[in-house]
Amino acid sequence: MEKTLVLIKPDGVERKLIGEIISFYERKNLNISALKMIKANKKAAEAHYVEHAGRDYYNSLIDYITDGKIVAMVIEGENAVKIVRKINGVTDPIEADMGSIRGKYGLSKERNLVHASDSIENAKREISIWFPEI
Ligand code: PPS
Repeated sequence: MEKTLVLIKPDGVERKLIGEIISFYERKNLNISALKMIKANKKAAEAHYVEHAGRDYYNSLIDYITDGKIVAMVIEGENAVKIVRKINGVTDPIEADMGSIRGKYGLSKERNLVHASDSIENAKREISIWFPEI
């Protein structure tokens, strides 16, 4: 079964949207196969966002993701990578479909509540960062 990595970012935890966000995935019959609440350290955050190093928003993104608690999840199901990206909606909440998590609740390109892997390869890489034990 295909696996993907989701992070509920600090704004999602602070705004008490953990349950609401998880419900989106469960209602689509996806399986939450691992879940933990953590405070991300800088090393893990930098490894996670390595593809964005050098972008003008990179430092802000790292500061933000390490600023508060996050929820990391492994989600499994057929076509999980694509389906979860669709459930999350596009990066900018203004452009995101109103039925998506970001369209419904997101506030900005940074405070957009959730991250999801964009490919099966990146899912494997990201799962190994946040869940080295599995
Ligand atoms: S790109 O150019 O398509 O690769 O970028 P994108 O996938 O849309 O965004 C990558 C992650 O960076 C975050 N992001 C930003 N953070 C702060 N400020 C600005 N302007 C900004 N633009 C993008 C965005 O939330 C993405 O985070 P993740 O966690 O990967 O969804």
